[in-house]
Amino acid sequence: MKRPKVLISNDDLRRRVGELADEIQDDYATPDRAADDPLVCIGVLTGSVFFLVDLLARIDRLPTRIDFFQTSSYRGGTSPGEVRILKDVGTSVRGRDVLLVEDVVDTGYTLRTVLDLLRFRGARSVRLCALLDKSSARQVEVPIAYKGFEIEDHFVVGYGLDYNGLYRNLNYIGVYDGEAAEDEE
Ligand code: IMP
Ligand code: MG
Repeated sequence: MKRPKVLISNDDLRRRVGELADEIQDDYATPDRAADDPLVCIGVLTGSVFFLVDLLARIDRLPTRIDFFQTSSYRGGTSPGEVRILKDVGTSVRGRDVLLVEDVVDTGYTLRTVLDLLRFRGARSVRLCALLDKSSARQVEVPIAYKGFEIEDHFVVGYGLDYNGLYRNLNYIGVYDGEAAEDEE
C-alpha cells in the first residue's frame, strides 16, 4: 500500500498545535479564573482525537474537562443539513466556557449543528478550534476562533482523519488519492 503524499508533516503539526495551545491558554487562563471553573473541551469523534490529545497535553495553565460528541456522517445518504448526534456529551455546559475541537471544517454543517446545540444549553461561551479549514467547501458559516491550517478542497487523511475508517494512525496529514490506496508497492 502506498503512503498518501504528505500535505502537512508531523513536525509542522507539532509546532502549530503548540502555538494553538499557547493562544488558547493566553485567552482563557486569566488571573481571576477559578480553579473549579474549567474550560470544557469537547471533541467530535473520531477524527479529532489525535489533535485533542496533543492540544490538551500542551495546556498546563488552565483547568480543563474533556468530553466528546459523535455525529452521523451525512455522506451516508442523508441530506447535508441533517446532522444527527449519535453520542451526546456527559458534561453539563451551562455557565461554562466551551471549546469545541474538530479535525476539519468542510461544509460546516456538523459544526453549525453542534455549536447551536451548545449555545442552546446555556454555555457561557462557545468557541471553535479546528485543525484544518477547507473554506472553499463551506456551505454554512461557522466562525473558527483557533485555526491550525487552511487547506485546499482535497480529501485528506491521517492524524485522526480517515477514509472508510483507515489511515487515522498516520502521524502526518496526507492527501488521499483513491489509486494510491489500491496500488501495492
Ligand atoms: P462538514 O460537516 O462538511 O464540515 O464535515 C464534517 C466532517 O466530515 C469532518 O469532521 C470530518 O469527519 C469529515 N471530513 C470532511 N472532510 C474530510 C477529509 O478531507 N478527510 C476526512 N474526513 C473529512
Ligand atoms: Mg469529524
